[in-house]
Amino acid sequence: MRIVVGITGASGVIYGIRLLDFLKNAETFLIISENAKQVIEIETGYDLKEIEAKATHVFANNDFTAPVCSGSFLFEGAIIAPCSMKTLGNIANGISSTLIERVAEVCLKENRRLVLVTRETPLSEIHLENMLRVRRAGAVVMPACPAFYNKPRSVLELVDFVVARALDAFGIHLNTKRWGEQKEKQQEQERKSRKGVWAQEEE
Ligand SMILES: Cc1cc2nc3c(=O)[nH]c(=O)nc-3n(C[C@H](O)[C@H](O)[C@H](O)COP(=O)(O)O)c2cc1C
Repeated sequence: MRIVVGITGASGVIYGIRLLDFLKNAETFLIISENAKQVIEIETGYDLKEIEAKATHVFANNDFTAPVCSGSFLFEGAIIAPCSMKTLGNIANGISSTLIERVAEVCLKENRRLVLVTRETPLSEIHLENMLRVRRAGAVVMPACPAFYNKPRSVLELVDFVVARALDAFGIHLNTKRWGEQKEKQQEQERKSRKGVWAQEEE
């Protein structure tokens, strides 16, 4: 399976990095925006080369000669995680000023899967209108909103919840905790231990 992973300069670049970890068996085409490179440095301890080594192919965000720039090159679709409001806005308005935006445009025109893991809060009317626009054009808009019913024990579990939902859209189902799949007793035990953890974190 060929999947494009775009990482833009919104907070939460770890979403894109974790995606690559779970896509080891796929052929991945990684594009990291210039702003994302800055955010990677600010938010993570990752070296750029370390992240790039997780992907099969790597392209610069201004390389419009990349195969994924054309609809004639066959790939399943793209996940942009995180997706900044700037990239969302350009996609919503058909502006392909970067390779990530061009890949999104290709996905929409070719009816391929496009998942946008958006990250911003609060959302302005313009952001909401752009989300509606891309949704109507066929994209899946997936704000980076982890759930808590699975009683996450770490930040990584919160991250992986969002990543798992993005991969669900591609029919790739990670073995993460899902609603309705935990036994009641186990849930009760976890509820009790969670209480303790929340209390600790509050201290
Ligand atoms: C540390 C940091 C965090 C940011 N977080 C966000 C964010 O959560 N959402 C967003 O839309 N933009 C965020 N920005 C601003 C984007 O980086 C900026 O709009 C940029 O133009 C996005 O370009 P790109 O989509 O090509 O990467 C952040 C910038 C920095 C430096």
